[in-house]
Amino acid sequence: MGLFSSSTRQVPVVAAVPAHVAVIMDGNGRWAKKRFLPRVAGHIKGVELVREMVRACLERNISYLTLFAFSSENWRRPQEEVTLLMQLFVKALEQEVEKLDRNGVRLRIIGDLSRFEPRLQELIRTAEARTAGNSRLQLTIAANYGGRWDIMQATNRMLAAQPDKRAGWLESDLEPWLAMAFAPEPDLFIRTGGEQRISNFLLWQLAYSELYFTPTLWPDFDTAEFDRAIASYQTRERRFGRTSEQLQGTSDA
Ligand code: IPE
Ligand code: IPE
Ligand code: MG
Repeated sequence: MGLFSSSTRQVPVVAAVPAHVAVIMDGNGRWAKKRFLPRVAGHIKGVELVREMVRACLERNISYLTLFAFSSENWRRPQEEVTLLMQLFVKALEQEVEKLDRNGVRLRIIGDLSRFEPRLQELIRTAEARTAGNSRLQLTIAANYGGRWDIMQATNRMLAAQPDKRAGWLESDLEPWLAMAFAPEPDLFIRTGGEQRISNFLLWQLAYSELYFTPTLWPDFDTAEFDRAIASYQTRERRFGRTSEQLQGTSDA
């Protein structure tokens, strides 16, 4: 699937290994609670698992990894937890970017970044610029991201770019303005932590993704768990609206 391509407009080419994996990393708090630790201990462990996940994607030639780190609704959490999460984000950017760069990882942060402290915004800009020339793995962190926010910011920018156009807008007009316009739509969506919901993640882009839900808490989601998710993906028949017979080539395609 090329740039701005859409699973609702054309049938994408499907490979055995997903090109784009999107993950809701959920369950950090419960992981900590089970161990009688503060919630932040779960978030710290969660960052380690992000590192492991990036390594696994590099090894498996997965081109895009998109991780939901902080939703637009997560501001509703206790102030103390929000502050700690922001501190962890800053620390991760300070400590990990050099290694990501060395490994050919391009880092992007998507979401409404205007709500972050200036120092964090600056770290994000620097990290993105530093890794902009890399293409082995495109790692995207969704922070203060919401799927509805994304659709609205894209709509507003689309309308502003063509102020005289009054009607006849197409999906393909909107897509270049979406936060993930640089990537094909996710092939595989994973949510850890047992909940079976999207929680306002990539609403537009998940239209035809294969969904995988696991009760495993994010800090326990190791490489073996990831391989189970990929194995499940490989059993799926991705029809994109067609019949099974068409896919198997036993009738007119
Ligand atoms: C996901 O883990 C991390 C973030 C939302 C930042 P949670 O913090 O939601 O963990 P649970 O769901 O309470 O276990
Ligand atoms: C979704 O997790 C967002 C992230 C993992 C960043 P939540 O734990 O916030 O989701 P809900 O509120 O339970 O749906
Ligand atoms: Mg949660």
